[in-house]
Amino acid sequence: MRDSLEKEIPHIKFKDVSFSYPGKKENLIFKCNFSIKEPGFWMVVGKNGSGKSTLLKLINGIIQPKNGVIESNANIGMVFQNPDHQILMPNCRSELLININQNISKNEVNKKIEYVLDQVGLTGFEKRPVHTLSGGQKQRLSIACVLISDRNFILLDEPTALLDQTSQLKVLKTIKNLVSDKKRPLSALWITHRYEELAYADAVSELKNGFLSSWQEPSKFQNN
Ligand SMILES: Nc1ncnc2c1ncn2[C@@H]1O[C@H](COP(=O)(O)OP(=O)(O)OP(=O)(O)O)[C@@H](O)[C@H]1O
Ligand SMILES: [Mg+2]
Repeated sequence: MRDSLEKEIPHIKFKDVSFSYPGKKENLIFKCNFSIKEPGFWMVVGKNGSGKSTLLKLINGIIQPKNGVIESNANIGMVFQNPDHQILMPNCRSELLININQNISKNEVNKKIEYVLDQVGLTGFEKRPVHTLSGGQKQRLSIACVLISDRNFILLDEPTALLDQTSQLKVLKTIKNLVSDKKRPLSALWITHRYEELAYADAVSELKNGFLSSWQEPSKFQNN
């Protein structure tokens, strides 16, 4: 399992990227420049309607820029705000199975399932029906699905917005642990409007008036 994850470092680069939705004159994203070149916990904070979800859609290619260039070698997986919009199957094992995209032996499949559930703090949850999971457990199952499909870049769009504080912390710590695993280059770009989450990041940026500020350490950012 580990060997198959030891791959090249994922990176994403925006060069002067602008975007507006059809029929809108004003650019929602305007001459936006940033790059993510190292594995780690990257957070973008922004107000409602500032374009955070649009930025993620540009990164994963759901929409195309009007101007500018997006370069990426990342193998991207998504975690959305509401896990009920993402999880399709009745139990944890079947949900993980639909996310394995390799032709591997049953033994390997079982090992992978055990490994990723362990990675997100859901050891022993394989047979659990999804409807018996808490919101935070569902979010961690969604993260396990990204891991089991061998992605190396996770985009998380306000993944804790519907969670209580205990579950919020567990999801934050899950990502923090995953990106800290030196043997496996993994980047997470976490979108939030909750300032208290920024302390967990390696670097923080604000989306405002269509572009991202430069990356800063969380402590410096909060002092702004
Ligand atoms: N498909 C679309 N067509 C037209 N306008 C859109 C579309 N999707 C989003 N918008 C508009 O673009 C703006 C930014 O939306 P976006 O969802 O990216 O913001 P956000 O920062 O994620 O907001 P929130 O914090 O509420 O999730 C909003 O004014 C929204 O109405
Ligand atoms: Mg949004």
